[in-house]
Amino acid sequence: MTVIVSFINRKGGVGKTTIAVNIGGYLAKTINRKVLLIDLDPQASASSWLMTQDRYLEQIVENPLNPQNSSYQIFRDAIFNENFFSIDTGIQKAVARDKNGTVLIPTFDLIAANAKLDNLEREIVNYNDLKIAILFEALMNLRIVDEYDYILVDCPPNMGTASQNALFASNVFLIPIIPDPLSFQGFPELINTASQTLKIATRRRDDHKKPLCGGLILSHSRNTLAMRNTTEDIRNLLTIYKEESKLNDNADIFLSKITYRTAIPDSQGQGTILPTAKGRKTDSQTEFEDLAYEFDNKFKDLI
Ligand SMILES: Nc1ncnc2c1ncn2[C@@H]1O[C@H](COP(=O)(O)OP(=O)(O)O)[C@@H](O)[C@H]1O
Ligand SMILES: [Mg+2]
Repeated sequence: MTVIVSFINRKGGVGKTTIAVNIGGYLAKTINRKVLLIDLDPQASASSWLMTQDRYLEQIVENPLNPQNSSYQIFRDAIFNENFFSIDTGIQKAVARDKNGTVLIPTFDLIAANAKLDNLEREIVNYNDLKIAILFEALMNLRIVDEYDYILVDCPPNMGTASQNALFASNVFLIPIIPDPLSFQGFPELINTASQTLKIATRRRDDHKKPLCGGLILSHSRNTLAMRNTTEDIRNLLTIYKEESKLNDNADIFLSKITYRTAIPDSQGQGTILPTAKGRKTDSQTEFEDLAYEFDNKFKDLI
C-alpha cells in the first residue's frame, strides 16, 4: 500500500516545502523507498527547486502541452470533464538530476505545480461533486497509488481547496511549524478547519479511512527562551486537543527538529537538495536524514 502524507499549514514560510522535498529525497535515496512528491502550491517552489528553474520553465510553464503535465490538470480534468492528465505526461520521473542531466535519485518522482492552480478557487464552483475529493479519486483511478511507497503532498499556505483535497486524500498529515509565538497563533484555526475536512473524509472516502495527524515538525528552530516556551505551549495545546478528540492520541511533536540555518535558503537557490549535496556532511543534512528515518519508522507499517 502507498502511504499518502500531506504537509499542511495555513502559514507560508514555515518550512513545508523544504521539509517535504528533503524528506522525500532521503526516503528515496537513503531508505530506498519509492517516492512521489505532488506540488499543489501555485508558487511551485518545490517544482522549480527540484527541476531547477530552467527545466521547470521549459517543461512545465512553456511546454506546448502545458498545463497537462502539472497537478493543475488533475483538477481541470474533474472540473471541466477533460481527460488529459496521465501518468506518462504528468509525472516527472527521477526528478533530481545534476547539471548534465544525470539522474541522482532514481526513485524520486514529481507531479509539478503550475501557477494556474491560482484559478482553482474560482473554477471549482463549476464542479458539482464533492470538491475536496478530486485528488483522492484521481490517485485511485490513475492507479498512481500502486506505484509508490510514499506520496508526499506539498500544500499551499492556506486551507483552501488544494489543501483540503490533500487532507482528504491523505493517510497521514504533518504540520511543519516554527515554534515562535506569531507562527503559532494560527494553529487552533488550522486544527479546526482540518477537523471539518477529516469528518467529511471519514464519511465520504470509499475506504472510510480517517486521515490521521502524524505529528508536528519544528522548523527554523533556535535555542532561545521564546522558542522553548512556545514549544511547551504547543505541547500543552496538543494535549488538550487529544483530550477533546480533535486530534488522534499519537499526534506528537517529532523528536527530530530542524534548526534555523542560513545555508538552507542558499542551497535552494543553487537547485541542490540535501541528500545529493556533495562534500562533508553538514549538520542540516544529519537533521533531515534523522527526520526521514523517524518519518519512515512511524509510517512504514502503513505501507
Ligand atoms: N531550517 C531553515 N533555516 C533557515 N531557513 C529556512 C529553513 N527551512 C526553510 N528555510 C527558508 O525559509 C523559507 C520558507 O521555507 P519553505 O520551505 O518555502 O516554507 P513553506 O513551504 O512553508 O512556505 C525559504 O526561504 C527557505 O529557504
Ligand atoms: Mg511551500
